[in-house]
Amino acid sequence: MSAAAPAAKPTSAAKSDAAAAFARGLEGVIGGQTSVCSIEQDKLIYRGYEIHDLAAHATFEQVAFLLLEGHKPSADELARFKKEIVAERAIPASVAKFLTDAAPQLKAGTAVPMDVLRTAVGLLGHQDPDCQDNSAAANLRKSKRLLARIPTIIGHMQNAIDGRAFVQPDAALDHAANLLYMMTGRRPTTEEARVIDVSLILYAEHEFNASTFTCRVIAGTLSDLHGAVCGGIAALKGPLHGGANEMAMEMLKEIFASVGEAGIGTPKVDAWMEQAFASKRKLMGFGHRVYKNGDHRAGILHTLGRNLASRLGGTPGGLAATRWFDLGEQVQKIMLTKKNIHPNVDFPCGMTYFVMGIPVPQYTPIFVAARITGWCAHIMEQHADNRLIRPLSIYTGPAERRWNG
Ligand code: SDX
Repeated sequence: MSAAAPAAKPTSAAKSDAAAAFARGLEGVIGGQTSVCSIEQDKLIYRGYEIHDLAAHATFEQVAFLLLEGHKPSADELARFKKEIVAERAIPASVAKFLTDAAPQLKAGTAVPMDVLRTAVGLLGHQDPDCQDNSAAANLRKSKRLLARIPTIIGHMQNAIDGRAFVQPDAALDHAANLLYMMTGRRPTTEEARVIDVSLILYAEHEFNASTFTCRVIAGTLSDLHGAVCGGIAALKGPLHGGANEMAMEMLKEIFASVGEAGIGTPKVDAWMEQAFASKRKLMGFGHRVYKNGDHRAGILHTLGRNLASRLGGTPGGLAATRWFDLGEQVQKIMLTKKNIHPNVDFPCGMTYFVMGIPVPQYTPIFVAARITGWCAHIMEQHADNRLIRPLSIYTGPAERRWNG
């Protein structure tokens, strides 16, 4: 149990039991049941399939189907699912206009893509004919529409930032490849597409993380799926959660700016880290509330990213692609030896997306493009067997007193 605030005197029998269960941030507290995902110290499971198995042998579309429908798709089911998603990729003109209107603020950096994405999903919500219908069938239709359209929103946002015409979805491209294509206007190589595809599989689902639990709390009031997803996007934006993938890359860029290419692999990086430790700075992309011996996903993405970097060449951010991984591995080694803290999936994600030329502010929106599948699976599960989520609290305010003293 984590160090709790000094518990005030409970005001009822129920609360005295609750006080025994209290843990700040609900650390270690079971918040419900789910058939979607299981996280153990030695494995991560999506509906019974282990993450290394999925990353090696499945595509993101297959994993999306698994999470939303609950089983591995047959060849026919997958073909039908992919056709449905491709057919739903286009976004309403009103949402496209909103993204055009937001372009100046996005270019100026006064509006961040995660906020614009959250608003765009809100706009899709009240225009969706199924919006107020929480039935399983309607929720599944809405889930597929959001899965299909979020990459288009991300692509159009990037087009707007780059001042180019919107790149329309390419029906010939699979989900991950089409996402990259819409952002850049360039069809990715097979290897680039597979790296993004696996990153979407790794990001797709993770049990009762903060954004998923947010979705479940909102769905638990019997509010609608789009509203729950808007809450999930707001929660994921935070740097302690999904926003860490952007911040991890910004941190590496800060270290490179400080030590220079020649400083990589030298005690200069150790000195930078010691200064960060001394100022009690949280180093983004490291640590995890549940994993204490390492995030199963981090190693998978790190290997893919490093291999891609060795073939990509180029000098993103003024450094050879592989040198970013050299620097990242040195930072990881110091974190492990000095703090015994492992990298989480966001650390290799930052480096991998960076060497691929993906703009940093789009990293967490891409996380949304994957996690929409896990969120929707949990929202459907909550609606299907609901109980309002309403925990207790321990009162630490002033003792009772009279208003007119
Ligand atoms: C995601 O829950 C999920 O599953 C989330 C996620 C998913 O797929 O949905 O896995 C995705 O959000 C991954 C996490 C991304 N966030 C970051 O990388 C942000 C940096 N990490 C930390 O803020 C932290 O590790 C958390 C928030 C992730 C977890 O923190 P906890 O469980 O609340 O642990 P803590 O902050 O209490 O830290 C325990 C100790 C502290 O030292 P003391 O103050 O007790 O001396 O470890 C230290 C912390 O200072 N510590 C860190 C650190 N993480 C923990 N010190 C420096 N850098 C860090 N990153």
